[in-house]
Amino acid sequence: MKLQHATWPEVEAYLEHSQGIVIPIGSTEQHGPTGLIGTDAICPETIAQGLSDQGILVGPTLSIGMAQHHLAFPGTITLQPTTLMAVIHDVVTSLKRHGFKQFMFLNGHGGNIHTTETAFAQLWAEHSLADQDSGLAMRLVNWFQGRRVRELINALYGEADGWHATPSEIALTWHAYPDQIRNVPLDPDQAPFGEIRDALDYRRRFPDGRIGSRPQMATLDHGRQFYEAGVEDALEAWQALIESDQAQ
Ligand code: NI
Repeated sequence: MKLQHATWPEVEAYLEHSQGIVIPIGSTEQHGPTGLIGTDAICPETIAQGLSDQGILVGPTLSIGMAQHHLAFPGTITLQPTTLMAVIHDVVTSLKRHGFKQFMFLNGHGGNIHTTETAFAQLWAEHSLADQDSGLAMRLVNWFQGRRVRELINALYGEADGWHATPSEIALTWHAYPDQIRNVPLDPDQAPFGEIRDALDYRRRFPDGRIGSRPQMATLDHGRQFYEAGVEDALEAWQALIESDQAQ
């Protein structure tokens, strides 16, 4: 069930049996010469569709994230960390007003992790300082770190999955949009690894945008496998979140 395809009476009826919602969160940033700018939003949105198909409510994708380090490449859009925190704060607070309590942010971008966790801490802190029970169970779930997905990455690519513009995420976008496959020669074959700092430093270290990856290894069939593994991992994380809250 997708929030954007629901009516308010349907949301009201959903809330009578569940107070949980999945929010896909990603980024709009360069993904090397072959990866789509929307990769980090497309991946969690695609996996969230599998959860939606099982009756779990899925909110709109937060498709712009914290991507300052990619700004030296055309097409990248970033929110500052404080802006993204404010967005997460207002999204959660709006939904809390209706009675939602369990929030699973299904994330596709490493650069969102610290900011999202800090936004959760900020929300809890506001209630703690006011001596109020927030009732909020919020969890960040990175699709690319799920157990089944990691096993598949290790089996298919090993270290050549790299850190950015990875064959795993690119394969998943191909599964979602098979008409958007790019095949462009890449040099070097596998990109270098290194530290992430500001945008100009990033472009000097990683001239074509990739970090440590060999996205040429991606195939459409891998994309299907990542979709299936990603949905299983995300379902398990969802059930753990709901059960942890019901155990209180
Ligand atoms: Ni990515």
